[in-house]
Amino acid sequence: MSGTKSRAPRKSSWSGTDTPNPKHVFHPIFEGFIHMEQTSKLAGLVRRLQQFLLVREIRIAVSAFRYVLYALILRRVRRFSGDDRNLGANTLDYNFKKIGKSLHVDNRIHMLARPVTAISYVATQLPFAKTLSIGPRAEGELLALAGYGFSWSNIHGLDLFSYSPRIDVGDMHAMPYPDSSFDVIVCGWTLGYSDNRPKALAEMVRVLKPGGILAIGESYHSKTYEEGAVYHGYELGSRDRINQLDEIVAPIKDNILNWYFRQEATEEDYRREITAIVGVFSIKK
Ligand SMILES: C[S@@+](CC[C@H](N)C(=O)[O-])C[C@H]1O[C@@H](n2cnc3c(N)ncnc32)[C@H](O)[C@@H]1O
Repeated sequence: MSGTKSRAPRKSSWSGTDTPNPKHVFHPIFEGFIHMEQTSKLAGLVRRLQQFLLVREIRIAVSAFRYVLYALILRRVRRFSGDDRNLGANTLDYNFKKIGKSLHVDNRIHMLARPVTAISYVATQLPFAKTLSIGPRAEGELLALAGYGFSWSNIHGLDLFSYSPRIDVGDMHAMPYPDSSFDVIVCGWTLGYSDNRPKALAEMVRVLKPGGILAIGESYHSKTYEEGAVYHGYELGSRDRINQLDEIVAPIKDNILNWYFRQEATEEDYRREITAIVGVFSIKK
């Protein structure tokens, strides 16, 4: 890598199938060319500084500062007001109430970001990867992704509400993005709010580039929907429980190119309060 003339980071994709040039290397897994370009020293330094965002206290401080600026001072809070027929019960009201209390919503993203950034062709191309977080709720999750080395300008969020310039307001069942827009999508603990999971997953495939990575996190539920409603005192999310990775991805199984990480939870795990189900795979289409 050393000795190559340094250049500013490019926003171009590493999962495209553009005409090869000397800086592109053929990647056999997704049958496309990846960029092997150097970034400038300054960009490298900024990325090293970004790593401080992996320290939770720093992340929360930055998140809180930006929340005060955008939500309280500039009053940029927006809420989804479109077609809500695919949203599970109380999804909008429940999550909207949490907006100011969720600056610390930044823990579970590690379960998705770690396996994603361990994939070698992602790891070498992090600054170029255009990344979407579906349902980040607040900026903490996006700041954590920056901590892992994704460029801040390439990180986008999509949620039903937002105060942040980096989080678009929209519905995961009809995303406001053109086809093949992203190299990586993380969707953490959001699919459970969908009453039309096949549509949400089809949208993720649509906006991912061929060879792009999809990381999904969900929770194992021992309780039925009805038991959950009695337990919490209110109805929330989809009636359709998810308890296994293969059930989650069944609607898009023909679009899965490679599995990189699979973690299931069982009834025994649930009793030990371990509930996370995580799947990371690449997409073909
Ligand atoms: C439980 S939070 C998950 C927060 C974070 N990703 C985590 O893993 O802790 C679910 C988020 O998904 C959002 N959400 C639910 N349904 C959605 C939809 N149809 N489109 C976009 N976002 C949605 C909610 O507003 C909420 O912010």
